[in-house]
Amino acid sequence: MSTSIPPAMARYPSLAGKRVFVTGGGTGIGAAIVEAFAQQSAQVAFVDLAEAESQALVDRITAAGHTPPWWQLCDVRDVAALQQSIAQAVQELGDFSTAVNNVARDDRHTMESVTPEYWDERMAVNQRPAFFTIQSLVPGMKRLGGGSVINLGSTGWQTKGAGFPCYAVAKSSVNGLTRGLAKSLGEHRIRINTVSPGWVMTERQIKLWLDAEGEKSLHQNQCLPDKLQALDIARMVLFLASDESAMCTAQEFTVDAGWS
Ligand SMILES: NC(=O)c1ccc[n+]([C@@H]2O[C@H](COP(=O)([O-])OP(=O)(O)OC[C@H]3O[C@@H](n4cnc5c(N)ncnc54)[C@H](O)[C@@H]3O)[C@@H](O)[C@H]2O)c1
Repeated sequence: MSTSIPPAMARYPSLAGKRVFVTGGGTGIGAAIVEAFAQQSAQVAFVDLAEAESQALVDRITAAGHTPPWWQLCDVRDVAALQQSIAQAVQELGDFSTAVNNVARDDRHTMESVTPEYWDERMAVNQRPAFFTIQSLVPGMKRLGGGSVINLGSTGWQTKGAGFPCYAVAKSSVNGLTRGLAKSLGEHRIRINTVSPGWVMTERQIKLWLDAEGEKSLHQNQCLPDKLQALDIARMVLFLASDESAMCTAQEFTVDAGWS
C-alpha cells in the first residue's frame, strides 16, 4: 500500500537529512512513517520481520528518487539482535536524532488462554523493544545535542477494547515510558512523546477485523466520518520529529477521529 505524499502536505525543512530509526517499518503504519520521512528527504533506517514487504517498500521509495532507506531483517523479540541492528545502522549511517517505536502485534486472545510464556512473548513484541531501542539510540542523540523519540501507543485500551488484554497492558505502558523518561531525556534536549492512533485501516486491520460490525462501530464512535489511514498517523509523527514541535515533550497526541 503506497502512501504517496499529497501535494498539499506540509514540508518540514528541519527533517531534511535527519536520521530516523523506525521499528516495524516494513508494513502498515510503520511503512507509511518510513515513506513519509523519506519524502521529507530524511535518511530512514528500519527493522522488520516481513522480508518481501520491507524490500518492496525500499524499492518503491528508491524508485521514487528518495534516499534509499537502510533496513535489516530483525526479530525485535530478540533484544540482542535489535541492539546489534541499531549498532550496525549507527556505524553505517551515523547517529540518529529520531526514534519511532512502532512495532507491535494486536493478536487476539482471551484472558483464560494466557500462559506465562504467552504473556512474556506479548511483552517481548509489544512493550520491551521500545525501551531498548531508546537505550541504544540516546547516546547518539546526546552527541547530536538533542533528539525526538516517538512511541506508538493506542486508544484501544482507553476505549475499553476487548479481545487483547496482554496487548492492552503493553500499550497502556507506553504513556508510562514516555512520562517516565521525559525529565531525564529533556536535560539533553531529547523530547519524547506518545502518538496514540485510533482504528487505522491498514491492510492487516481490513483483512482481519473490518467486518459489518466494525463498520457500524466506526460510524457510531468516531466524530469524523472518514476512516483513519496510516498516513494520518505518519503526519503526526513527522510533526513531532520536526523542529515545529520543539517544545513538546512528555505528551500523548491522539489521532483517532474523535473516538476516545
Ligand atoms: N492499526 C491500528 O488500528 C492501530 C491502532 C492503535 C495503535 N496502533 C499501533 O500502531 C503501531 C503500528 O501498528 P500497525 O497496525 O501498523 O501494525 P502491523 O501489525 O500492521 O505492522 C507492524 C509491523 O511490525 C512488524 N513486526 C511484527 N512483529 C515483529 C517482530 N517480532 N520483529 C520485527 N518486526 C515485527 C510487522 O512485520 C509489521 O511490518 C503499533 O504500535 C500499534 O500498536 C495501531
